[in-house]
Amino acid sequence: MLIKKAADILASEITPKSLYMNRRAFLAGTAIAGAVAVAGVGVQEMASPSEVVQANAKIDGIRKSSFSTTEKITPYKDVTNYNNYYEFSTDKEGPAELAKNFKTRPWTVTIDGLVKKKQVLDVDTILKMAAPEERIYRHRCVEGWSIVVPWVGFSLSELIKRAEPLPKARYVEFTTLNDPQQMPGLRVPVLDWPYVEGLRMDEAMHPLALLCFGMYGEVLPNQDGAPLRIVVPWKYGFKSAKAIVRIRFTEEQPINTWNKAAPSEYGFYSNVNPNVDHPRWSQAKERRLGEFFKRPTLMFNGYDQVASLYSGMDLKKYF
Ligand code: MTE
Repeated sequence: MLIKKAADILASEITPKSLYMNRRAFLAGTAIAGAVAVAGVGVQEMASPSEVVQANAKIDGIRKSSFSTTEKITPYKDVTNYNNYYEFSTDKEGPAELAKNFKTRPWTVTIDGLVKKKQVLDVDTILKMAAPEERIYRHRCVEGWSIVVPWVGFSLSELIKRAEPLPKARYVEFTTLNDPQQMPGLRVPVLDWPYVEGLRMDEAMHPLALLCFGMYGEVLPNQDGAPLRIVVPWKYGFKSAKAIVRIRFTEEQPINTWNKAAPSEYGFYSNVNPNVDHPRWSQAKERRLGEFFKRPTLMFNGYDQVASLYSGMDLKKYF
């Protein structure tokens, strides 16, 4: 398959070897879960219409964003069939099929920690907080492939402002759904579940940090993180947690999943940085999905407007 050929770094390479050895057991788990997912169709069909979000439903009233790149957009079929989503599968082609019947309604997000307005919000309340924007961002995976995606959402700061973080809150932690009934990969300890990511507060408040619920003008496909994910375009893709159920404000730096799994390979910051190699491969170049030749990777993925967030920091130490 074209997409597979285009990528010269295997799924096994993002995963430290010790974790990857569990993959056989994991694959056995996906087979069982595939059956569960199919069985799940009936459950979804019984939900009331308001609880079911149609796949490919158009999102109304999307504004264009000045943050968008004019680079060629990666085809929808490539972006939606080449995913990293370990709760479903460690194979890139796995999540599209295995997440087909994932239930994204009803869905709530818990806002807690060092925040004035601790609350449990319905996802549809969150979606109405601000007008949807289309942000065409470069998205660069630590494995060496990149894509250009017209995401739909609004700045994460819109939600954070409404939660009123306390002055002591210095970080924001994002936690993904942990439902082994629906997410077959969770039955195998390939990572320490649930998937957790974090940002420093000023990173999370930066206007580029996107709270995302759509792409290509439509509701986010399940394999891309429905119903709600973040997209942090100047960081490697793994910082952009999918299927978020909890947003917690903390004083201490969150322990993010990949950093916990392999601290020497995946730092907390994980800014796209061509000058800091991953211990097992170079980060100097990348391959756009669907293209043959590699292109140079840009510092902060080309989003120079975030450079001031890191002034005075040694980015080799804080990688
Ligand atoms: N979020 C969750 N919950 N689980 C994951 O396995 N993978 C991350 C990130 N968010 C991941 C996740 C990684 S490694 C990448 S590169 C991006 O999602 C991929 O996003 P995409 O499939 O939309 O391209």
